[in-house]
Amino acid sequence: MIELAFSILASDFAHLADEVAAAERGGGTIVHVDVMDGHFVPNITFGPPMVKALRPVTKLPLDCHLMIENPDAFIPEFAEAGADMISVHQEVCRHLHRTLQQIQQHGMLPGVVINPATPVETLIEVLPMVHYVLVMSVNPGFGGQQFLPLALDKIAHLAELRHEMGLNFRIEVDGGVAHDTVAQVVEAGAEMLVAGSAVFGPGRTEHNAQQLLKLARAAAPAQD
Ligand code: DX5
Ligand code: ZN
Repeated sequence: MIELAFSILASDFAHLADEVAAAERGGGTIVHVDVMDGHFVPNITFGPPMVKALRPVTKLPLDCHLMIENPDAFIPEFAEAGADMISVHQEVCRHLHRTLQQIQQHGMLPGVVINPATPVETLIEVLPMVHYVLVMSVNPGFGGQQFLPLALDKIAHLAELRHEMGLNFRIEVDGGVAHDTVAQVVEAGAEMLVAGSAVFGPGRTEHNAQQLLKLARAAAPAQD
């Protein structure tokens, strides 16, 4: 099933609840929360207090993308704040298996993320324990960057591995997903589409979300 995970990073923070409501009316079904620490990525955003503020304004699942150096230390706090899904970067987790277990033990769905330069093969051992794999299609740190086509082969490779290994994790893609790139990512096999600027940028949020989902669904394989 194709789903739109709208990234609040590109929204108007002064009207956050309204922005979330508009993206939800447009068909968005996941709230993507980009957590950045100024160390792993060259930018700082927000943390558990943002999750706590969002929790009462929407029933949608809160998908926290942790771009931070020490995710283990913050997992309990994110759970407490109301996060439903947590993804951690393969590149920062010295004990990735343990971190994913910890997310699960705190009652959240574990996901793993790979940067553009990180091969899919680095995930093989943990694929059976993740709910989703997030393929970065930009280098993390900022919204509004250009889509990197190298993500397409990685998405297709993951879809193949999932089939071969008899697994059912979902494939999420993040960065530069917009009207001109969404068909390719869906054709490659992505199902959870993260979009920030394409939803909250120019135009009406509700309409932007609808259009993006329409293009995505038109490109989806028949079973969708
Ligand atoms: C980048 C973030 C993305 C970003 C996507 O580091 O992980 O989620 O907000 O923004 P767009 O859709 O504008 O590329
Ligand atoms: Zn993200």
